Amino acid sequence: MEFFIDTGDVNEIKEAVKWGLIDGVTTNPSLIAKSGRKQADVIKEISEIVDGPISAEVISTDVDGMLAEASELAKIHDNIVIKLPLTEAGISVCKKLSDKGIKTNVTLCFSPNQALLAAKNGATYISPFIGRLDDIGHDGMALIEEIRAIYDNYGFSTQILAASVRHGTHVRDAAMVGADVATMPYKVIQQLFKHPLTDIGLEKFLADHKNSQ
Ligand code: E4P
Repeated sequence: MEFFIDTGDVNEIKEAVKWGLIDGVTTNPSLIAKSGRKQADVIKEISEIVDGPISAEVISTDVDGMLAEASELAKIHDNIVIKLPLTEAGISVCKKLSDKGIKTNVTLCFSPNQALLAAKNGATYISPFIGRLDDIGHDGMALIEEIRAIYDNYGFSTQILAASVRHGTHVRDAAMVGADVATMPYKVIQQLFKHPLTDIGLEKFLADHKNSQ
C-alpha cells in the first residue's frame, strides 16, 4: 500500500518525509486555504520536497475552465496529478487529460457507480471519502470493498486512493480490503506508530539494561 500525506502544510510534509514512508501528497482547496498561501506556490514547494505524485485540485466547475487550470498546474512539475471533482464536467475532463497522458485523481467519490465512471474514463486515481460517509452513518469501508470488486472484475488500472481517513483503523481496514493508496493527515500517520505495549516494553528494556551495567 502506498502512503500519501493529505495536507497543504509544507512543514508537515518536511517532517513526514523524514520517516521515509511518504510516496505522494494530496491537497484540496480547503487544505490550501488553511495554509494561507497560493496553490501554485504551495504545490511548487511540495514538488521540491517529495518525489512522487502530488494532487492539485481545480476550482472551475466547467470543462473549459478545468482544462485551462489543469494545463497551468501540469506545468509546475511532472509529478502533478490533476484532481477533478466527480461531476459531469470533471469526468469529461478526466477522459481528455487521460488521453493526453496527464495523470488525474477523481475526487469526492461516494458511490461505486461514480468510481466506475472515473475508471472508464481512465482516471489514474479514484478518491472515495471514507470518513465523510461514516460521518453520515454510512459505511465508508464498504465503498472501498465494492470499488475493489468492480475494478478487479474488469481489470481497471485506476488506483483506489482511500481518502478522508480519520484514524488508524481506517488505514488497517483499507489495507485489508485492498485499497492501493491511503492518503492521511500527518496526525493519522503519527498514530500508526503508536502502541502502549511498545512504549512499556522499551522502557523496561532500557531500565533492565541500565540496571545491568
Ligand atoms: C482527499 O484527497 C481529501 O483531500 C481529503 O482526504 C478529505 O478529507 P476530509 O474529509 O477529512 O476533509
